[in-house]
Amino acid sequence: MPDKKFPKDFIWGTATASYQIEGAWDEGGRGLSIWDTFSHTPGKTWNGHTGDNACDHYHRYKEDVRLIKDLGVDSYRFSIAWPRIFPEGRGKPNQKGIDFYNRLVDELLSFDIKPAITLYHWDLPQALEDKNGWRNRDTAYRFSDFTDQMFRILDDRAGMWITLNEPLCSAFLGHLSGVHAPGLKDMQAAYSTLHHLLLAHGLSLTNYRENYNKKPAGIALNIGTPGPASPTSEDENAVDLYMDPNARMFLDPLYGKGYPDRFIDHLKTQNIELPVKEDDLNIISSPIDFLGLNYYFELTVSADSNSPEGYIVKSTSIPKTDMGWDIVPEGILRQLKWVSREYNNPVIYITENGAAFPDKMNKDGSVSPDPDRISYINEHLRFLKKALNAGINLKGYFLWSLMDNFEWAYGYNKRFGLVYCDFKSQKRIPKDSFYFYKNFIAESKLAK
Ligand code: FCB
Repeated sequence: MPDKKFPKDFIWGTATASYQIEGAWDEGGRGLSIWDTFSHTPGKTWNGHTGDNACDHYHRYKEDVRLIKDLGVDSYRFSIAWPRIFPEGRGKPNQKGIDFYNRLVDELLSFDIKPAITLYHWDLPQALEDKNGWRNRDTAYRFSDFTDQMFRILDDRAGMWITLNEPLCSAFLGHLSGVHAPGLKDMQAAYSTLHHLLLAHGLSLTNYRENYNKKPAGIALNIGTPGPASPTSEDENAVDLYMDPNARMFLDPLYGKGYPDRFIDHLKTQNIELPVKEDDLNIISSPIDFLGLNYYFELTVSADSNSPEGYIVKSTSIPKTDMGWDIVPEGILRQLKWVSREYNNPVIYITENGAAFPDKMNKDGSVSPDPDRISYINEHLRFLKKALNAGINLKGYFLWSLMDNFEWAYGYNKRFGLVYCDFKSQKRIPKDSFYFYKNFIAESKLAK
């Protein structure tokens, strides 16, 4: 067993996101999001699954907050569905949507659980997509208006703010590979989106600093810090090249270094331009209080002179989760070390980490044991302990996810929860990993 001693003020948490759990897609005045459109389009998600009902959290949030309380975490990370607040993406806010998050936040606070609030976890109002979504610079300003509302209403009660979740996925999965909403396959669209997302982050943060600024505010990224296929200088170089689009394109501008020249030059050879205007980079580098990192796996890359990027991702024989993601717990330490070295030891939270495995409900209503998930969590926590010992400025950990939910293009076919969700009856059943994590947190608080 790993040493359970974590710092006293270390924040233990668990995480979800609006579209993945809320359901009630057409209730309470909610407008459509790009994920409603995408999931309702045949062939886009596994077996045509949608988030229409998901975990029905919109109606069952009290029961879910009870589970969070029982888990013993300090904080709960959730996201606000922009189309619940602004059904048309702009204009007059929808009071019923605001009321829902007021109720949720009050319920959390009544149990002393700090709300870690994500402002964008991929559910862009469809009305804004109809005006070119994130390809349109105006969307960044609309995001700032939306977040201004939320700051005004919730800043007194929030624990921390996270502007965006994984802009890399919104940009590349949503606009390049097309496997996420809005499902485009257009490189220029992907890079315009990337820049406008970062601008949206910067505009909201600047407004937050000027007008609110009571709580820590940051962003949650998933960055690629792969391992080399072999210890040769070619493959090491391939790793470094991989990090340009997948890590430096986000971190460099956030930390005031501008976009990385080498990659911008590469984009030019592909006739891609970033729509950067004067002062954008200043706005984007408005200081964050913490960096959120979502870590699930580490890729392996090798040099390949035939690919335009100069590298390819290799398949490996490393054991995998149900997502097909390599289980590489020491990769979390490598990533933390790299970020801390390159960006001057920032305060970091692991804002997501967890694993999907094919859990089953038994005939008697119990859930089969999930030792693989327990081992995954245990191993990653072991390397986080090492990170703390190595002087990484790590302040907390949010486990993905509280309960099984709508796993984007995979629908309900991948289960990440500490709690099993039977999507027909909406029965919630804590898995063994729930109790493992609960005990881990409890022991970490007792450890001297
Ligand atoms: C991350 C997403 C999160 C969840 C996990 C498994 O990329 O932020 O919503 O789907 O993956």
